[in-house]
Amino acid sequence: MTDHHHSAAGASHGSDEPAMAALLDLDAEVLHTFLSDVTSTLADLTRDEPPRRIVDLGSGTGAGTLALLRRFEDAEATAVDRSPELLDHLLAKARDRGVAGRVRTVQADLDDAWPDLGAVHLVWASVSLHHLADPDRGLRKIFELLRPGGLLAVIEMAGFPRFLPDDIGRGRPGLEARCHAARAEAHAEHLPHLGADWGPRLSRAGFAVEVERPFTIDLRPPLPEPAARYAHASLQRLRSHVAEKLSSDDLATLDHLIDSDGPDSVLRRDDLTVHAERTLWAARRP
Ligand SMILES: C[S@@+](CC[C@H](N)C(=O)[O-])C[C@H]1O[C@@H](n2cnc3c(N)ncnc32)[C@H](O)[C@@H]1O
Repeated sequence: MTDHHHSAAGASHGSDEPAMAALLDLDAEVLHTFLSDVTSTLADLTRDEPPRRIVDLGSGTGAGTLALLRRFEDAEATAVDRSPELLDHLLAKARDRGVAGRVRTVQADLDDAWPDLGAVHLVWASVSLHHLADPDRGLRKIFELLRPGGLLAVIEMAGFPRFLPDDIGRGRPGLEARCHAARAEAHAEHLPHLGADWGPRLSRAGFAVEVERPFTIDLRPPLPEPAARYAHASLQRLRSHVAEKLSSDDLATLDHLIDSDGPDSVLRRDDLTVHAERTLWAARRP
């Protein structure tokens, strides 16, 4: 089911949507244990009345939507995103998994007027609230959307995932740390809410925060098969954010690492790790 709400910003947000879709899918695949832990926490919190109507805000390719439908077998989910390409990708995955009948997609820019999403038992917002121009307005809208007693799950990350050994960097170890510092500088301007403390903001919006739980994901070799592709896709995206800020040596090293055919490619290394940090806030509308 597709319900496209067109808005000025509802048009495509760039030509890198296929790369973004691949990265989000790999994120969900490599970090699937984390997703399963989070949905299990939500199942505990909703044991008395399992959610039947779920909304996934900034759903991307549906990592959350699909994990929630697996966990809550009687539920239906509405996935909301401003990208029609990512929503189409989500629907194709839902069809593959035989759950398309339980998913509706709504294209909307959540910085504009919100679509009518009905009354909801569970709202999921994973790594999406920090993209909003005014996340506090978003939290108030979510509060209105939820039925009394309904639950909001916010997942955000302290930083972007890391993969490389510390000693990488031509004559100057610490390439990945320098890349992330450059990215943080770029994001400080464009994404000021990334890494925010959401607890006080949830309280201010009227929610009762029931869980604040940090998760550290540390995968060591031998890594699962998609981890190298996840590292490759992540580092490619990182490059697009920091290329202009890196020294020519650092940029050359990074290019060797993401050159799929090159001898140093992350696709072939045996010394990669995956380190990611996410936090779950689960908050109830009283
Ligand atoms: C980092 S992705 C996270 C996707 C997904 N929740 C996940 O955890 O895999 C952020 C998503 O938020 C969406 N998004 C960003 N700003 C938005 C807005 N103003 N309105 C609706 N969706 C937005 C993007 O299109 C993207 O799919």
